[in-house]
Amino acid sequence: VSNDETRPPETGARDMGDTVGGDAGAARGVAGLATTYSARQVRRARELLTALYAARRTVRFYPLDHPATNEAIRELKEVVDAYHGEGVDIALAFFEGELLLGEQVLPEESILFDQLIRELTGIGVGSLVIRRGVQAHELARMVQLVAVDSFEVEQSGGMPRMIAEAQMPYVEIGEVKVFESSDQDDNPERAQESYQDAIELMREIDTLVGHKRAISAVRVKGVVRSLVDNVLSNRQAMMALSGLKSFDEYTFYHSANVALLSLALGSSITHDYRFLSSLGTGALLHDIGKLTVDPEILNKPGSLSPEEWALMRQHPVRGAEQAVAISGLDRSAIVIVLEHHMRFDGCGYPRPPLLSRQHLASRIVAIADAFDAMTSRRAYSSARVQDEAMAILVQSAGSALDPVLTRLFLSMLGLFPPRSVVRLGDGSTAIVIRPSDSDVLRPHVRVIADPAQAMIEPYDVDLSATPDLRIVRSLDATALNIDVEDYI
Ligand SMILES: [Fe+2]
Repeated sequence: VSNDETRPPETGARDMGDTVGGDAGAARGVAGLATTYSARQVRRARELLTALYAARRTVRFYPLDHPATNEAIRELKEVVDAYHGEGVDIALAFFEGELLLGEQVLPEESILFDQLIRELTGIGVGSLVIRRGVQAHELARMVQLVAVDSFEVEQSGGMPRMIAEAQMPYVEIGEVKVFESSDQDDNPERAQESYQDAIELMREIDTLVGHKRAISAVRVKGVVRSLVDNVLSNRQAMMALSGLKSFDEYTFYHSANVALLSLALGSSITHDYRFLSSLGTGALLHDIGKLTVDPEILNKPGSLSPEEWALMRQHPVRGAEQAVAISGLDRSAIVIVLEHHMRFDGCGYPRPPLLSRQHLASRIVAIADAFDAMTSRRAYSSARVQDEAMAILVQSAGSALDPVLTRLFLSMLGLFPPRSVVRLGDGSTAIVIRPSDSDVLRPHVRVIADPAQAMIEPYDVDLSATPDLRIVRSLDATALNIDVEDYI
């Protein structure tokens, strides 16, 4: 996938660069998912989960003072001590079938320990932090607590109460957050306002950068706060806005779209405000390094010369330098700006330092960036149809993009994302309004033309509730002369 620039030049895809430099390690750590683990510690997670799994089973069959229980807890304590001995606490998080150690998604363990994750989230356990200083008896209490079933949870007055009663000073159990969104809260005006604010901020930043004047972190934070709030509480209206394009102000709209899509994806992992705030800030500012690149190069139709390439490839480092100059901006956001072309496999630019890899938040932004860029028309490439762009993302999962996050992105937007023009099974033409909560293939659509292709008074259909009507294929809006915005 090419993140940002999809034209195939002679010198290789635009985002497959040489090393430009930059220190990605300096500003790591996103609050809430803050701990970064070494490769060895990540590998050890399997051992940890095996021990936890075994201990849970044991306490279900034996009392706490039974030798089998003692042995199982001793084995768990041994793995826990291995982390603590290296000076790190253990932070596990579970969400929608995925497992995280610190900020890192563990794809294989997510599959191997699928049952464990389901059972834990089923009783309301969303995260587990085991701090240094924990003793075996406290670990035993923790295991006993997470071994209950949902019936016992109900009997005992709910998980929060059980956690409080267990009194575990070194163990912290977080609740599962329910990331359901309801249509009732939908407020299209508020969503529109928030989105337009983001565009306006980008215009301002462009002017400030042009005049070499300072950007206010307070102003940026205000806009990002509104984006985060709206994605969390006004999600459907926000999702319907994603994908708004402007050819003339491509970078501004692109930045707002990337922020919106990144926040939507990020909020399906966590509702930690600090994490989302850094993510939104980094996503919105990810391309500020391009504001100082000569527009002649930026919008040049056709291929770039090697020198022009080298310049283009500097934009993440330039952008990070500009972000550093915004006093009070949080460091995680700067990391995102620096890393957005680094790629999941580390083959992008700038090259990640040895033993370091692209940050979780940067991996989220990379997906949103790739998707929005591919579906936009730019001076050097035409826009791709949404489902084609989605297919390219899926093909890049595991190489350029994080596979787990890509899968989440697909299930979030659906195979036919908002603003896709589609042909339905009965021959009519429709525009996708918003994704379905339950089926990636069956979004909410607005039918605009009948089977004979005569334009009609548009009406909405929820395809997830209409089993005999389905999407047959995507259509190219431009070729059909349909202006999607007229219908939204
Ligand atoms: Fe970029």
